[in-house]
Amino acid sequence: MTQDTDVLLDEKRIFKPSEAVIEKAHIKEWESELEKGKDIEKYWSEKAEQFTWFRKWDKVLDGSEKPFYKWFVNGKINMAYNAVDRWINTEKRNQVAILYVNERGDEKKITYYELYREVNKFANALKNIGVKKGDKVSMYLPMCPELLIAMLACTKIGAIHSIVYSGLSVGALVERIEDADSKILITADGTFRRGKIIDLKKISDEAVQMSPIVETIIVVKNAGNPIKISELSGREVMYSSLIEGEPSECEPEMLDAEDPLYILYTSGSTGKPKGVLHTTGGYMVGVATTLKNVFDIHEDDLWWCTADIGWVTGHSYIAYGPLLLGTTTLVYEGAPDYPDPGAWWRIVEKYGVTKFYTAPTAIRHLMRFGNKYPSKHDLSSLRILGSVGEPINPEAWIWYHENIGKGEVPIMDTWWQTETGMYLISPLPVTPLKPGSATRPLPGIEAEIMDADGNPVPLGKGGLLVIKTPWPAMLRTLYKDPERYIKTYWEIVPGGVYTAGDIARKDEDGYFWIQGRSDDVLKISGHRIGTSEVESAFVGHPAVAEAAVIGKADPIKGEVIKAFIILKEDNRLDSKVIEELKNHVRHELGPVAVVGEIIQMEKLPKTRSGKIMRRVLRARERGEDIGDTSTLEE
Ligand code: WTA
Repeated sequence: MTQDTDVLLDEKRIFKPSEAVIEKAHIKEWESELEKGKDIEKYWSEKAEQFTWFRKWDKVLDGSEKPFYKWFVNGKINMAYNAVDRWINTEKRNQVAILYVNERGDEKKITYYELYREVNKFANALKNIGVKKGDKVSMYLPMCPELLIAMLACTKIGAIHSIVYSGLSVGALVERIEDADSKILITADGTFRRGKIIDLKKISDEAVQMSPIVETIIVVKNAGNPIKISELSGREVMYSSLIEGEPSECEPEMLDAEDPLYILYTSGSTGKPKGVLHTTGGYMVGVATTLKNVFDIHEDDLWWCTADIGWVTGHSYIAYGPLLLGTTTLVYEGAPDYPDPGAWWRIVEKYGVTKFYTAPTAIRHLMRFGNKYPSKHDLSSLRILGSVGEPINPEAWIWYHENIGKGEVPIMDTWWQTETGMYLISPLPVTPLKPGSATRPLPGIEAEIMDADGNPVPLGKGGLLVIKTPWPAMLRTLYKDPERYIKTYWEIVPGGVYTAGDIARKDEDGYFWIQGRSDDVLKISGHRIGTSEVESAFVGHPAVAEAAVIGKADPIKGEVIKAFIILKEDNRLDSKVIEELKNHVRHELGPVAVVGEIIQMEKLPKTRSGKIMRRVLRARERGEDIGDTSTLEE
């Protein structure tokens, strides 16, 4: 996204918070809250006090085995207990916890008490089929209530969930099931997308054929799609029959604060996707605190995050965060522009959504239709808006602010990652905003822009974004690969700092301007895709000998895939082969992997040791200087 750099740096407008926002805000003073955050242990331990601990921690932070930090040492806690059980003896008991809406206009309201019963039933059912503490459960599910129920049921009994985004496909699913050693896969008959039904069961069947480790496939009936009993029928069971007759009470497992909560796979620059491991106590504290402060969550809020639970945004801020705060979370299944581009605004109006959180790519997409659709709806319930996933270009920011926020509602541009688990750089509602900047690190967080030697970079200059001190929701390791955890995040910049993999700048007010990835990770419509994953999908096609992939700027999606390929002898890149390749990549990785352009090459730029130099391809694509090529083969 460096193409936006100059635009971003010229952006000088400042938007001050309105009196109405300040009046309602939990945190009325930004600077003094930042000051409080400087005593990290005190700050986070105060935040941890709001939860129910079965046993209190002995120590807030243990850095004796850096970078394997531990938070809330020896504390005993349960996530589902805090997100659900805690509320059922309060006035929230009958409040709606999950408001499910889909693109067909169906809705389902689940109160905290109902959620409690459903979670317990499924937790008991999981135990019955032999799932124990520490077991991994993979989920390939749409945005349906059962996904949240299944997540909570896992944490209730101490099982570790590994959710695979339903927009990924067979190849990605197999890889993730196998890496996580999951014996259980939960899937569904289908999901709604633009009036069509996507058959997730079929994709799951294909994946399971290749992953014999899966012993049980649990199928949720969601889309009313006829379920074909596959050859694996011996291993299949319907969700509804599994929970039948199960008691609606289930004792929460007393988990250690550092017991794993989930694994979530994300893309890096090289090799296989990384299994980011999050644990229980610190994650809970970090996610709930940041959601409460940044979006100023109150009892009467209706919170809508439009992400998918298959990504970290959904884990932290559709499922866990809102329930930990006892608010109502809107879960939407469908496309933003179906049946028409007013779909989202109709929902905001109908239910009175108060806090709305989406991605720049969605804003850019909806922006194309102008003000026609938003102006048809009463959006006056909105009090705070949010953005996540990639840098938001000032043009989109202003459109969002004026047309959705009616020039009044502040926009929280939240910077974070799968690995960070929670927002790290973000404004609070009382922060003066600059369009395109995520402003400053949140209270309790210390960030800096450094060069590769660990020196701070002068103001206004681009450098590597690093986090200097640990934070509670940080990843603890990469599943089965602690070496890679150290190498990827803690050894890029010296001095024991966490390297995020982003390029950023800081201005004279200390505001951070994130510019994009410093590595080979792509952001297609805000979805994080590794170049190496795409390349191996290409190479998996019989006609392709070698492939190198880079991002190509796209006005709506941010980036799409541009592939440089060497074909095997006797093959020619005609329109038929191009179509076939696109379909093949889509089949392997899913619709998220949008191929924009395929170029046939005779040779790819490589280092003498044979590594593809995508940097060279990228520089050429952007018309930039290709830089140091001393390691280039020829
Ligand atoms: C990018 C998504 C600019 C960034 C939560 C980061 C952003 C990557 C922002 C993580 C933002 C996320 N401004 N860039 N507000 N939020 N990013 O793991 O490049 O899917 O490293 O987590 O998204 O993507 P991930």
